[in-house]
Amino acid sequence: MTGVRIRSGRKALVGRCRVPGDKSIAHRALLLGALAEGTTLVHPFPGGADVRATLEAIRTLGVEATWEQEVVRVRGAGLSWAPPRPVRIDCANSGTTMRLGAGVLAGQPQPVTLDGDASLRRRPMERVAVPLRAMGARVETASGYPPLQVAGGRLRAVDWTLSVASAQVKSAVLLAGLRAEGTTRVREPLPTRDHTERLLAWMGVPVTRHADGAALSGGQGLHGADIPLPGDPSSAAFLVVAALLVPGSTLVLQDIGLNPTRTGALAILTRMGASIRVENAREVAGEPWGDIEVRAGALSATAIGAAEVPAAIDELPVLTVAAAFADGETRISGAAELRVKESDRLAGLEQLRGLGVPIETSGDGLVIGGCRDRMLSPGRVWTGGDHRMAMAFAVAGLRTPGGLELDDAQCVDVSFPGFFRLLEELGAVVEPV
Ligand code: S3P
Repeated sequence: MTGVRIRSGRKALVGRCRVPGDKSIAHRALLLGALAEGTTLVHPFPGGADVRATLEAIRTLGVEATWEQEVVRVRGAGLSWAPPRPVRIDCANSGTTMRLGAGVLAGQPQPVTLDGDASLRRRPMERVAVPLRAMGARVETASGYPPLQVAGGRLRAVDWTLSVASAQVKSAVLLAGLRAEGTTRVREPLPTRDHTERLLAWMGVPVTRHADGAALSGGQGLHGADIPLPGDPSSAAFLVVAALLVPGSTLVLQDIGLNPTRTGALAILTRMGASIRVENAREVAGEPWGDIEVRAGALSATAIGAAEVPAAIDELPVLTVAAAFADGETRISGAAELRVKESDRLAGLEQLRGLGVPIETSGDGLVIGGCRDRMLSPGRVWTGGDHRMAMAFAVAGLRTPGGLELDDAQCVDVSFPGFFRLLEELGAVVEPV
């Protein structure tokens, strides 16, 4: 495991850049492509470890998929897709591979084991097992955690109310619903990312949208499709906050996904006083895209409550870093889900205290005492092997004159291969340790 040190340099971050393609859409495009009739093209393929896990998963399940240059080409196996024999799938660090994969596998008879790395083995899986069992699948967990054993067959539709707002669980139920008899409906306590619903429609399966969720009728075939991916807004968020915090910076991030279920962080930062402009807004393959122009500037504290959490869930670590440099006290609540992500992110963020930031955590949130002129004390932080924690702390390093060391730089490969190189190209000081 190699570490890295980030220091505040003298240079502003200036330039135009792109970030890797949207990871959430890429997982869905591969799985739906495998269930479709005909060929699906997914591009530019983001290439991070999570989406590579889904690509390997569909190959292990017998689907032909090639990856050349930036294009993944999936030869769909159709709605009756099933592996020829029992198989074991390594989902690595990817909760999306495991949970959405379980939804797809619930509708076929072969026993499939879904396992993952030490971090994934600590993540709760009953939330997805319970509704799939209600549909008639056999799903076993190891006392609620991976490995997961899934075997199904004839499924019946359900009308399911989610107990936590989770796009992964919603998507697993909808994907199982594709192969179930009748109309499957999912109700969610708060709106979560709707890429599955949009992609299903793009590939020919109508989805009825309700104020509290979505429904589809089983047995309808998907058509293979061309699926261009926008830049991942969750990856873009690290660069947005970096530009806000380094004086004099101006960045333009091109072709970023602007699905309203993903842009919570941009709305929150704008409320905090950030100068963020969207240009060239357009719709591509059923998803909103645009360019984001961000300029450095003073921020002020805000309150982020439960209703705002799903649309900013993956950005809360970097928003916490932004809050450390925003005048006043920022409160984040209703975010207990952060404790069951790739690491316990609330616990990890407490490390900001050792760098000089007044921060208190509770069961479901944080209170951060911010200050616009703050510089952090030098130090070393533990990423817990969590890609988003590593990148959030890297952004904090841009306001650390003595340098902030991260124990693990490699983990960013999960979602953002090339993150540190890009940061350096834009003007940051990044050194191996
Ligand atoms: C994701 C949904 C979110 C998010 C994760 C990706 C998805 O998880 O945190 O990084 O692609 O559906 P939950 O659905 O568990 O909240």
